[in-house]
Amino acid sequence: MKIAIVGTGYVGLVTGVCLSEIGHQVTCIDVDEAKVDKMRAGVSPIYEPGLDELMQKNIEAGRLFFTTSHQEGFQDAEAIYIAVGTPPREDGTANLSYVEEVAKSIAAHIDSYTVVVTKSTVPVGTNYRIKEMISAGVEGRALFDIVSNPEFLREGTAVQDAFQGDRIVIGSDNPKAAQVVEEINKPFGIPVYHTDISSAEMIKYASNAFLATKISFINEISALCEKLGANVEDVAAGMGMDKRIGSQFLRAGIGYGGSCFPKDTKALVQIAGNVEHEFDLLKSVIQVNNKQQQLLVDKAKARFGSLEDKTVALLGLAFKPQTDDMRESASIVVSQQLVQEGARIQAFDPIQPEMAAQLLPPEVALCQTLKDALTNADCVFIITDWPEFKKMDIPMASQLMKSPVFFDGRNCFSLEYAVSQGIEYHSIGRES
Ligand code: UGA
Repeated sequence: MKIAIVGTGYVGLVTGVCLSEIGHQVTCIDVDEAKVDKMRAGVSPIYEPGLDELMQKNIEAGRLFFTTSHQEGFQDAEAIYIAVGTPPREDGTANLSYVEEVAKSIAAHIDSYTVVVTKSTVPVGTNYRIKEMISAGVEGRALFDIVSNPEFLREGTAVQDAFQGDRIVIGSDNPKAAQVVEEINKPFGIPVYHTDISSAEMIKYASNAFLATKISFINEISALCEKLGANVEDVAAGMGMDKRIGSQFLRAGIGYGGSCFPKDTKALVQIAGNVEHEFDLLKSVIQVNNKQQQLLVDKAKARFGSLEDKTVALLGLAFKPQTDDMRESASIVVSQQLVQEGARIQAFDPIQPEMAAQLLPPEVALCQTLKDALTNADCVFIITDWPEFKKMDIPMASQLMKSPVFFDGRNCFSLEYAVSQGIEYHSIGRES
């Protein structure tokens, strides 16, 4: 099938590349010319394991194209995917201006039946607004249908998730359009779940909000474990054996970050507020997460008294491993607090995200190697559980540091191992 995808962020690019891999003729459209040139050459603008290889393969096979022109991309497309960003506004609501621009452009360009598929995460009701906007602009020139097809990919494992996802949700008010989207996705072999449009929109928000709730819940339990002498990892493992609870997303740590959970939880609180429903549970989830991101600094202050002139090796800048994305990462809040406390920061991330210079306070020294970050440090803060940190040569690290004090925000080491390495080890939800 011939498909156009507008927006080449994580969602749009991964979707486009994977749809071309299963045999479709895909044109990805982005306004950024430099980015389009790069992608045409088979280079992904984002770090995502396995993506470059698939891009190159499908460009060579003549199935994957990139352009800045909507007109060129939409030409003969049977389906147009909207995958542009919906960044949060100051008040937490989703900014839909990019989505609306695409809707107008679709209205201006289509001239035969087209299925418009919304991949971007949009508040309940937005697809109907998109439908109205296209109807108003297309003036009967062509028929079209709207389908909500939310995305459940995780950054860092997005390619794998595209081929092995748990479900594909198709929300539609016309079975013909739903059938087109089901056909497009058939080669993935993933179970399809059909709903109405509003329910599909809600499934996306409810899923992210629920996963965020699991994380904040286990983080609250971890605080109790520390006070009562229990071990949160054993507690999570024991809880997770109950199939109704499930073992995933029960890893205690310094909270969730990224471009999705913080944004979508805030947006859902707003969406609820708009219909006069106070989503108190979700508000608490957000509060717990904000508190959690400050935990390592609190622990370090309790240990050292003052952090004035202390040198902190800050390990990990991305919001999770296998990505260069730093949006809403705990590393930002932690460095701001450390700077306020008068500490010096030597930061290192294996991928050295481009966003670092822009998102971190200027006082932060960005190091090229792990060794540079550790040299003469009074303590280590582990922010991201990169495999490199889990495999760290601790005796070497201890030698480089002034004192081997570790504050581990991701429980990278077992307590037994930390003790055997002779370090002072503070982690989350476990006795040190
Ligand atoms: C999340 C969802 O998992 C995807 O299903 C969804 O498609 C995506 O948002 C989206 O809305 O686009 P992502 O943000 O890539 O994916 O990352 P996750 O793997 O879910 O991790 C989010 C954060 O939670 C990370 O900071 C991670 O460290 C943290 N986390 C995760 C925990 O603290 N504990 C856990 O047990 C799991």
